[in-house]
Amino acid sequence: MCGIVGYVGYRDCSDVLVSALTKLEYRGYDSAGIAVFEDNKISVSKSKGKLKNLVEKMAEEGKPVGIAGIGHTRWATHGEPSDVNSHPHSGAKVTLVHNGIIENYKELKDFLVKQGREFLSDTDTEVVAQLLDYYYDIIKEPVKAIIETTQELRGSFALGIVFEDYPDMVYAIRRESPLIVGVGENENFIASDVPAIIKYTKDYYLLEHDEIAVLSKSGVKIFDIHYQPIVKELKTADWDADAVGKCGYPHYMIKEINEQPTAIKNTVLPRIKDGLPCLEECNITPEALKDINRIHIVACGSAMHSGMVGKYVIEDLARTPVIVDIASEFRYRNPIIGEGDLIIIISQSGETADSLEAMRLAKRKGAKTLAIVNVMGSTIAREADMLIYTHAGPEISVASTKAYMVQLAVMYLFAFEFAFAKGNITDEKYRYYTEKLLETPEMVEKVIAQTTEISQKISTKLLTADSLLYIGRGLDYALSMEGSLKLKEISYIHSESYAAGELKHGTISLITEDMPVIAVATQSSIYEKTVSNIKEVKARGAKVIMICQEGNDVPKDIADYVLKVPNFEEVLLPMLVCVPLQLIAYYTSVQRGNDVDQPRNLAKSVTVE
Ligand code: G6P
Repeated sequence: MCGIVGYVGYRDCSDVLVSALTKLEYRGYDSAGIAVFEDNKISVSKSKGKLKNLVEKMAEEGKPVGIAGIGHTRWATHGEPSDVNSHPHSGAKVTLVHNGIIENYKELKDFLVKQGREFLSDTDTEVVAQLLDYYYDIIKEPVKAIIETTQELRGSFALGIVFEDYPDMVYAIRRESPLIVGVGENENFIASDVPAIIKYTKDYYLLEHDEIAVLSKSGVKIFDIHYQPIVKELKTADWDADAVGKCGYPHYMIKEINEQPTAIKNTVLPRIKDGLPCLEECNITPEALKDINRIHIVACGSAMHSGMVGKYVIEDLARTPVIVDIASEFRYRNPIIGEGDLIIIISQSGETADSLEAMRLAKRKGAKTLAIVNVMGSTIAREADMLIYTHAGPEISVASTKAYMVQLAVMYLFAFEFAFAKGNITDEKYRYYTEKLLETPEMVEKVIAQTTEISQKISTKLLTADSLLYIGRGLDYALSMEGSLKLKEISYIHSESYAAGELKHGTISLITEDMPVIAVATQSSIYEKTVSNIKEVKARGAKVIMICQEGNDVPKDIADYVLKVPNFEEVLLPMLVCVPLQLIAYYTSVQRGNDVDQPRNLAKSVTVE
């Protein structure tokens, strides 16, 4: 979704804005633009398409030269991607960039048209620019005009604003959409996310709802909606510029796949005390866990798929029912939530609009909420009753890999502690599972090394497929959902995951020699059953790629390719097997010449519903 940056300092502002915007490219966008004070006038440059189009345009037409300005990458909502709909948008004296959606833009636009104002674009953002300009014209003071304007807006917004009468000052406000203020020496920044500014400073303020930031070269002032100054805690990012660079890898996705062992260690180790999971720091005590009778896991995309694995593990070990819901469904179907229910929200970004609203709904219904979130200080993290941070570090590739992996790790930590608190596993089993979880970083590293080549080979066989199926049972089925999503989002090949036993009730009619099937069969208790389903598709001509454990004796002629992962505790195998699934998707996308890290139409952080 849209990315916002702003700068005031001593460097070449256009360069800083473009460099910061490149670090927000992961959010997904279809046009870009900047506005810079040049000789006390605001100079705007914007272009449809990727940032390189903007850079080329500025090279041809001359880039604005100055030391203060704002920039934007736009993911179209109101109005098609085009030069004219790109941000920044302006009124007579005001220019701004916006992330979010203004729900009442139509009525505000009608009012402004009656005032004789003309509009150039189809966007909701231009309405904000004109409304702010309208109030500024009356009030003549930037902060008061911002307060007046935003009180009339319904919806979500983070705004970066410049006023022509106040050169070398940048203003910002947020409601719902994220925004941080980076604090440097003789330079200050605004950005949608820390990666944009980490090259320049690690120190930042997290703006809360309706807080207004006023930035000059020498300092940052923050006010509440009543124009009262606020003193805020300065935060420091605990990672550096390398974390948001490719470090020699051709794509972020493959870098992030390789970072998984470290991400697991960073997530699991701080939660282990005397050899056992301890989530007390996250506000989760064994006593509180005992009273939970039902769990709802609510999330979107890959985060929801990690919840699917969680469901199988928690139900198996803790014997407590778990319902997994897609957040956009949960929030509109009046879910039944009662006493003794725990709602777990999983989100990498902590800003996904549907997940956030699902959590708020659950809270309104009186349920306890536990958030599993990667981005520190994000809205979901701040509003949940209990919180477990995953420590994947910044995930830049749109297709989630390491964030999914550590969500799985947290699902296991939680499941083990919960199962023990419920009295469903012995102390011995509890220790054994924890020990095995602690071995996963090493095992994942081994799997990356062992399966890269074969995954690459397998991907060459998928390049021309129009569609394929992922099948599995139980945990393998839960995992195959993520494998299938990974492949389709970056390779653009249609794929579906299916419970292997359900195939014969309809879907098997699709099987021909042109439809490859990726069969995951790692669980001994149902191995034979899955093998029978594999035989069914093989008999109908499908090319089968089978993923199983090293120890499995694969019957002859049932698979065209067999990819084996090391034998390991089966409950934890999804953490190992997701690696080749990620690699197959990655190499297929690379070989098809796609934009691996920024697949078409997708956004990393989906802040609209
Ligand atoms: C988008 C991303 C996915 C992600 C999903 C949920 O669709 O492309 O990778 O799984 O949103 O995002 P969240 O930040 O809530 O985990």
